[in-house]
Amino acid sequence: MLAILEQHISPLHARAMLARAAGGDRAIDVGRLPDLVEALERGVRLFGGARLEDTIKRQILALAPSEATEVRIEIAEERDVIEARLAARQLCQTMGSRALVMQRVATAVSELARNVSLYAVPSGGPSGGRRGVVTLTPLRGGAALRIVVEDEGPGIADLKSVLDGSYVSKTGMGKGLVGVKRLVDDFDVRTSPRGTRVEATVVLDPTSAGSAR
Ligand SMILES: Nc1ncnc2c1ncn2[C@@H]1O[C@H](COP(=O)(O)OP(=O)(O)OP(=O)(O)O)[C@@H](O)[C@H]1O
Ligand SMILES: [Mg+2]
Repeated sequence: MLAILEQHISPLHARAMLARAAGGDRAIDVGRLPDLVEALERGVRLFGGARLEDTIKRQILALAPSEATEVRIEIAEERDVIEARLAARQLCQTMGSRALVMQRVATAVSELARNVSLYAVPSGGPSGGRRGVVTLTPLRGGAALRIVVEDEGPGIADLKSVLDGSYVSKTGMGKGLVGVKRLVDDFDVRTSPRGTRVEATVVLDPTSAGSAR
């Protein structure tokens, strides 16, 4: 970790910054890496601004690529959409993604979750039983993230026109799904009267993802 910092700032400053962030701990617990990165952020920002902060954060978090695990969020009502968005941001952060990619992931997740809460979960609320689920899965040692949003709702009747952009929505702008398709690297929708499943993959770090695109 010291070696990473020293690539960007002077060894003296790197040592001091690390000691301060680790709170005096000599051995650094890998499970606490995200906390340590948070603590380092302020110091790094002073030296190199947001761009350097981003670079260092990714390098340090890459030391523990297996740390991120799958996250599941049930969508039963509107506030779960916010929950899903937050979980997506948090996972991206743990995986060391760039701020812009994190924004794309968070937007895609909340658009898809919002559709579930609007169209698939009956107005009766959570007791209705037909819930939706958002599953976020780290892929390829943290180089990509898979987003799966499934529900047991009535399905999307006009999927073709929704995806080609000619759909006219009564409930919104009708641009949610096409927007998500543009934001992600891989996109697939399956829908029937028994439910809908949207699967999307976002490459978090194209330099290490190789042939992913
Ligand atoms: N999970 C779903 N279950 C059932 N129908 C859905 C689902 N997701 C989308 N739909 C249908 O597909 C249409 C298009 O969805 P899309 O998200 O693209 O636009 P929108 O929700 O109408 O507007 P917005 O631009 O605000 O998202 C919706 O109007 C809705 O009829
Ligand atoms: Mg929508």
